[in-house]
Amino acid sequence: MNVPRHIAIIMDGNGRWAQARGLARSEGHRAGSKQVEIIADAAIAEGVQTLTLYAFSTENWNRPKTEVETLMTLFAEYAQHSLNDLQRRGIRLRTIGRMEGLPMLPRMALQRAIEATAKNTTLTLNVALNYGGRAELVDAASKVVAGRVKSGDTSPVTEEEFAAALYAPDLTSPDLLIRTGGELRISNFLLWELSYTEFYFTEVLWPDFGPAELHAAIEEFGNRQRRFGKV
Ligand code: IPE
Ligand code: IPE
Ligand code: MG
Repeated sequence: MNVPRHIAIIMDGNGRWAQARGLARSEGHRAGSKQVEIIADAAIAEGVQTLTLYAFSTENWNRPKTEVETLMTLFAEYAQHSLNDLQRRGIRLRTIGRMEGLPMLPRMALQRAIEATAKNTTLTLNVALNYGGRAELVDAASKVVAGRVKSGDTSPVTEEEFAAALYAPDLTSPDLLIRTGGELRISNFLLWELSYTEFYFTEVLWPDFGPAELHAAIEEFGNRQRRFGKV
C-alpha cells in the first residue's frame, strides 16, 4: 500500500467529546492528550515518518483563560511525562509555531524534550503550538527581508528561498491532512505546506480517533490519484 510519508492532523473535537459526557472541556483535552501517544505508535506501525499535530492555534488564545491554562499545563505535562516513552520508541519531538509566546513552563519542558530526542529517527513528531499559517508566512517574510537588507539583494524572491525561511524547512510537505471533529476547514493550519496535500475529514472526535481510524484514512489515501497539476 502507498503509505503517506508525512501526515498532518487537526486534532479537533475535544470540547464536544467532553460535553457529550457531561464533563468539563478540560477533561476532553486530557483525553485528547492521551490519544497523541496512541496515534504516534499507530503511525510508526503504519510506516509513517513524520506526524505533524495541530495542538494550539494563534487564535486559540481567545478561549476562556482557564481553558488556555489547562492546555498550557497539559503541554508541559506531556513534554515531561512522555520523555521516556519518546526515547524508548525512538521518536524525535519538535515544534512549529511562535514558541517565544508560550509560558515559561511548557516552553522549557518542550525545549528539554526536543533536545533530548534530537537524534531519534523512528518518527518525527512535530507539534504545532501557538501556530498560525498566516503567522508562519509573515515570520518567513520577515526573515527573508532581514537577510536581504543585510545582503542588499533585490532580485525576485524564489519559492525555494521563501520555503527555506519557514518554521521547519527540512520537513517534506504533508502528503495527507486529517481533520477530526467534523468541521470542513483548515483553521489557519499550514497554509503554504498544504498546497498539494490530500484532505481527509472525519466526524470522529479526536479523543475517539484510534489506530483503526488512522488506518482507514491511510487506506483512503492509497486510493487517491495525485496529479500535481499534470495530466
Ligand atoms: C481541539 O478541540 C483542541 C484545541 C483546539 C486545543 P476543541 O477544544 O476545539 O474541541 P471542540 O471543537 O470545541 O469540540
Ligand atoms: C483548530 O481547531 C485548532 C486546533 C485543533 C489546535 P479549532 O477548534 O480552534 O478551529 P475552529 O475554531 O473550529 O475553526
Ligand atoms: Mg474545535
